[in-house]
Amino acid sequence: MRKLCVIPGDGIGQEVIPAAAQVLEKVMPDIQFINAQAGWSCFQQHGDSVPRETLEIIEETGAALFGAVSSPSYKVDGYQSAILKMRKAFNLYANIRPVNSIFSDQTKQNVDMIIVRENTEGLYIREESIENGIAVAKRIISERGSTRIGQKAIDLCQDLNRERLTIIHKANVLPVTDGLFLNTITELFKGNPASEQLVLKTTLVDAAALEIIQKPENFDVIVTTNMFGDILSDLASYWCGGLGVAPSINLGDFAAIAEPVHGSAPDIAGLNIANPIAAILSAALLLKFHWQEISAAESIENAVQSVIHKSPMLSNGKLQKGFSTSDITKEIINNLY
Ligand code: IPM
Ligand code: MN
Repeated sequence: MRKLCVIPGDGIGQEVIPAAAQVLEKVMPDIQFINAQAGWSCFQQHGDSVPRETLEIIEETGAALFGAVSSPSYKVDGYQSAILKMRKAFNLYANIRPVNSIFSDQTKQNVDMIIVRENTEGLYIREESIENGIAVAKRIISERGSTRIGQKAIDLCQDLNRERLTIIHKANVLPVTDGLFLNTITELFKGNPASEQLVLKTTLVDAAALEIIQKPENFDVIVTTNMFGDILSDLASYWCGGLGVAPSINLGDFAAIAEPVHGSAPDIAGLNIANPIAAILSAALLLKFHWQEISAAESIENAVQSVIHKSPMLSNGKLQKGFSTSDITKEIINNLY
């Protein structure tokens, strides 16, 4: 029996995560959910954004479905973003963010890229300091970190029959750090017999940003550093209908946490009008990448796809006036097979 730690978090996470759990239960009736708390309101209540109990539950289940958290953009003593804390606690070094235009009813129909974002290093180690009016942020790139994310991307190409891998970097300006990332993965690629069938491309991040908008079909699997992956995945989500539709999964060697790419959207929280599709597709990623339940994952993806294309409830990734989170969830459940 599969066990899943369910963490709605803040804002619309409280609506979209129960919706995704409901869909998941339909394709996996014996799944056991264990609810847990994390996030900003959890911090305000308990003084901890991810209480020990939550960490213990994820330790036990090995899998979590996480909503979103609100984080202040100013420093709060003792507060750490819940998702960053969990990524670190479970060494979730790969953030897989697929963008597929089959989930969009408006835009190009031939976009099918997977962004593999390094998830533990770069600027996200969050070592910042300020002295004499000069603020400094440390950015770490390691050979070990680059190797394991590079390997993950190559393995993913193989497992999913992908043909092209693009390393996105800024080694012209940062030859030491991004140079290490680029060279490590390039060497890994050359030394890997599996990559004979694969084409390797390397692109500077600024040029890649334009290409993602002009010719998104050029991309297949992308591997990049932490913050570039964060930014480019929001940008690329344009092609699947925006953040209301963009899923992701954080993978480590022992645990996985699926989460929609979007934030907690406090402006629409509690109104039952949040689009639950990103959360539902994130649940499908757990099935696909963590539990290897491919046909259950496809059942969800196909149901979502047909609702997006046929139902008046959604247009261009947005839930239309008069329809609720519960309406669209019900519609997706009706389309499962
Ligand atoms: C994401 C989010 C997080 C990140 C925030 C909430 C810390 O933007 O998952 O993309 O920057 O990684
Ligand atoms: Mn982000």
